[in-house]
Amino acid sequence: MADKLRLTEEEAAILAGDQGPGLQKAMAIVVALAKIYGAADLVPVESAQVSGVSYKNLGEAGLEFLQEWAAMGARARIPATLNPAGADMQAWRALGFPEAFIEKQRAVVDAYTLLGVLPTLTCTPYQAGTQPAIGQHLAWAESSAVSYANSVLGARTNREGGPSALAAAIVGRTARCGLHLDEGRQPTALFDVRCAIASEADLGALGILVGSQVRSGVPYLRVAAGLPAHADLKTLGAAMAASGAVGLYHLEGFTPEARAGAIRTSALRASSIDSLRPGYDQLDGNAAEVDLVSVGCPHASLAEMAAIAGALDGRTLRAQLWVTTARPIRDRAVDAGLVSRIEASGGRVVADTCLVVAPVAALGFRSLATNSAKMAFYAPSHSGLSVRFGPLERCIDAAITGRWHP
Ligand code: F3S
Repeated sequence: MADKLRLTEEEAAILAGDQGPGLQKAMAIVVALAKIYGAADLVPVESAQVSGVSYKNLGEAGLEFLQEWAAMGARARIPATLNPAGADMQAWRALGFPEAFIEKQRAVVDAYTLLGVLPTLTCTPYQAGTQPAIGQHLAWAESSAVSYANSVLGARTNREGGPSALAAAIVGRTARCGLHLDEGRQPTALFDVRCAIASEADLGALGILVGSQVRSGVPYLRVAAGLPAHADLKTLGAAMAASGAVGLYHLEGFTPEARAGAIRTSALRASSIDSLRPGYDQLDGNAAEVDLVSVGCPHASLAEMAAIAGALDGRTLRAQLWVTTARPIRDRAVDAGLVSRIEASGGRVVADTCLVVAPVAALGFRSLATNSAKMAFYAPSHSGLSVRFGPLERCIDAAITGRWHP
């Protein structure tokens, strides 16, 4: 496989160090991965989205790695954005984040900024300014964003790791393999969904079931009863990417490649999904009391913020409520009067971060309610929280009463 890879003259020169050690290091990473995956060549990418931002996950070794790379003179040559950090970088003090953590987190964001990556700090860049076009090649890392870009927008990206997305940003290329190729985008499993999908939590439970069955495959879904009008597909892909490693799914009648008829399903035998209960059972625990409610995973859209403000309807909260979102969406929600409505109830509209990448132990929370299947999947292991999982209305009820009502 190793000798299959062909580089252009410019790529070979970068690899030889002609454009300095920072670019050479980036090209060495991209080339090593291309050889591992048996790629024939590299593909130019239009944008990169880089994960590995929270100091909670990076630690000192990760921070030094970034600072050393920046000191070599490496800079992103294509638009590149950053995944959420470990804290709201403006309201951290009011939210109880330790100052020592914030200093380290700032150093991480500064290192990325020096590397030419925009400090957007969101997992939904497609809601906040970076909307890739159909067929565009990308190097994105955040698994939920990868799924959205591939499935809903019809762009093309593999699920890059943090360092490989950064390397791709610096050289503007990645390995042409997997989901960059027509063949890699064909479905490997076919599902007939026969139960009703009524909420975002139902979509998440479905995603958990499909992801755990197909692992890194490409599922094709036929949903007999259709989806609710307000369905936000980001929650479906986020769940599939959590329980499996799904980077692309096709949804009949909804996603662009399924609509375009470029997809072959005739050789696949359909599996039937008749109930979402096994998905709920994987996520929903048994804690009666809830001290934190988190909605906005992936980061909340303006429409979700309006739904949350409407569901709160001015009532006072017993548990803490965090609505996590991207900074530009928060700004628009301020202008629309949504942040003041949520805060009037005692809720917080938190930007730049989420409960999975924040140092939750230092904030003293124990039990979480969420409408996000991805957050429910990761919170016990990543944040040590017991979890209740259900639709927005039940989460808002838990925020108001401090209890989870079955
Ligand atoms: Fe985004 Fe955090 Fe969820 S990064 S997808 S809000 S776990």
